[in-house]
Amino acid sequence: MKILACNSNRPLAEAVAAALHLKLATASVRRFADLEIFVEVHENVRGEDVFVIQSTSYPANDHMMELLITCDALRRASARRITAVIPYFGYARQDRKAGPRTPISAKLVANLITQAGANRVLTLDLHAGQIQGFFDIPVDNLAAEPMFARDIRSHFNGRDIMIVSPDVGGVVRARAIATRLNCDLAIIDKRRERAGVSEVMNVIGDVRGKDCILVDDIVDSGGTLCNAAVALMGNGAKSASAYITHGVLSGNAAERIAASPIECMTITDSILPTEAVLQSRNLRVFSIAPVLAEAMQRISDESSVSSLFD
Ligand code: R5P
Repeated sequence: MKILACNSNRPLAEAVAAALHLKLATASVRRFADLEIFVEVHENVRGEDVFVIQSTSYPANDHMMELLITCDALRRASARRITAVIPYFGYARQDRKAGPRTPISAKLVANLITQAGANRVLTLDLHAGQIQGFFDIPVDNLAAEPMFARDIRSHFNGRDIMIVSPDVGGVVRARAIATRLNCDLAIIDKRRERAGVSEVMNVIGDVRGKDCILVDDIVDSGGTLCNAAVALMGNGAKSASAYITHGVLSGNAAERIAASPIECMTITDSILPTEAVLQSRNLRVFSIAPVLAEAMQRISDESSVSSLFD
């Protein structure tokens, strides 16, 4: 088993390698003057079970090309099996034709990864589970939900909690956590009544006096969660916190979250946290390295990955 890190999240790859008592394989990713990417693997990988760790996060296109080119290099170097470990799978939000003459980019990206030589994919909380079907190779889609449930139990011990889905699309994920924690679920129904008029946030469920915990897969601009927190507090919630798998946090999202009523937002390190995130008053980063490492070990040993979540 060999682990190779591309450039999107080296600290996570190092933590995974340390958990497996391995060293990262030596490779370099360089640029030509016109910014073309060139990858060179500096050690023999012939016949090896190789795991390439790369989140296709910002800058998404560069990180995607690094992953594709690395898979190509490994395939041509006769690696026995290549697993693309993609903690955050970018382009996942483009998983259907959103309108006439629009692409399904998540499918295109799945094709590219497969064509580049990946034999399997290991990822975390895909935006939509059915994206697994875009690949004709095995996909293990890990869930942050059991880790989040354990963390919520210890951090909110003794508090009257309620899990909240910030939109109708996230109900299944939120309900799964509420069921694990044996607590109630509320849903925020966002609606824009007319173009140019701000969104109306209807809270479905009685959140009065509750410590509300918003659960979602992605925080990008932070708009969805900040508005949801305002709506919850406006409906009498005692506090609003959040557990989100992928901290995309584009632009000034960290500042926006710091200025919101959110007590604490926990994200994972599926995407490398920026300095603004690390310094923020109410963002907290939770490492997925142990669970990724365990899943990789099980893939290598050909043992069950799903039983990790029992
Ligand atoms: C949407 O379907 C996702 O689950 C997130 O709710 C969304 O991507 C969050 O985006 P933003 O933080 O920009 O509101």
